Amino acid sequence: MYQLMVSFMGVYFSGQGAGQMFSFASSFTKATQAANYYFWLSELEPTIQETDSNKEKGPAKDCHSYDFKNVQFSYPLAPDNRVLKGVSLTIERGEFVAFIGASGCGKSTMISLLERFYDPTSGSIIIDSAASLTSINPLLYRSNIALVQQEPTLFPGSIRENISLGIDISVSETVSDSVIEEACRGANAWDFICSMPDGLNTQSGASGSQLSGGQRQRIAIARALVRKPNVILLDEATSALDTESERVIQASLMEAASTGDRITIAVAHRLSTVREANRIFVFYNGRIVEAGTHSELIEKDGMYAKMCEAQRLDGDP
Ligand SMILES: Nc1ncnc2c1ncn2[C@@H]1O[C@H](COP(=O)(O)OP(=O)(O)OP(=O)(O)O)[C@@H](O)[C@H]1O
Ligand SMILES: [Mg+2]
Repeated sequence: MYQLMVSFMGVYFSGQGAGQMFSFASSFTKATQAANYYFWLSELEPTIQETDSNKEKGPAKDCHSYDFKNVQFSYPLAPDNRVLKGVSLTIERGEFVAFIGASGCGKSTMISLLERFYDPTSGSIIIDSAASLTSINPLLYRSNIALVQQEPTLFPGSIRENISLGIDISVSETVSDSVIEEACRGANAWDFICSMPDGLNTQSGASGSQLSGGQRQRIAIARALVRKPNVILLDEATSALDTESERVIQASLMEAASTGDRITIAVAHRLSTVREANRIFVFYNGRIVEAGTHSELIEKDGMYAKMCEAQRLDGDP
């Protein structure tokens, strides 16, 4: 009887334990894959990085101007598809510049070049009319820049944490609420954050799933503004917003641009977004076909005028 009980219990419980363990069998393979991916990722050598020769070379403090000289570009994975076919333009400090054009004509590519995610295939980008962008330290350069992407990424965590991520601080420090509030007001996000029961502590969920598209965009803009950047790049940053909210954000961006010498570069499909821009560059098929202010371009009666016409809703004048 004793032997029966011992062997029965032994087989029973070890079987149960083994069953529990093997229910995680699929996780073993996932964990192996994830670990391999992580090791692969950490071994990658970025082509654009801080090196001994460019370590000290940063852009001049709060002075930025860009000079694109016949910039051509194709993505490394698709070298035959020339995305930019000779773009030349200058952007002065304090300017609000807009890139517009049909989908796929290379606007986001221009933004990637300005962020230095890629270097031009040929031609050059000169900043501060002195240094080529390829010669300076990407870390120092990017510390002056803020980007709001076409589809902004939010991280799991509270709204406060998401906005604080815009500032380069160590883990132990926290960003004061007044700084966050100022950035949120600039992005017209403060009112909706206050209306939530948990305020800044509201959880944003996995990739911001608890928030609406427009709220996500405004938090992304606040995260960009909290850096107090010299250059702010907005790639369709207000596309999910109603015109009124967009106008408020625009006004605060314009104000910041005129007081500090901040360069604002906006990409937009909705032309009302860029109406007030100092200069509008119209892209077509990887080239700039028109440039000027809203009224100049309307007078010219070219591509921009046609696009404006196509976006009018009220029919005949
Ligand atoms: N990572 C990539 N690798 C290869 N080709 C790319 C890559 N990203 C974009 N392209 C190609 O570059 C071209 C320009 O893309 P880009 O994203 O700059 O367009 P866009 O003007 O921003 O368009 P949209 O208004 O739709 O955002 C497209 O034809 C696209 O196929
Ligand atoms: Mg784009």
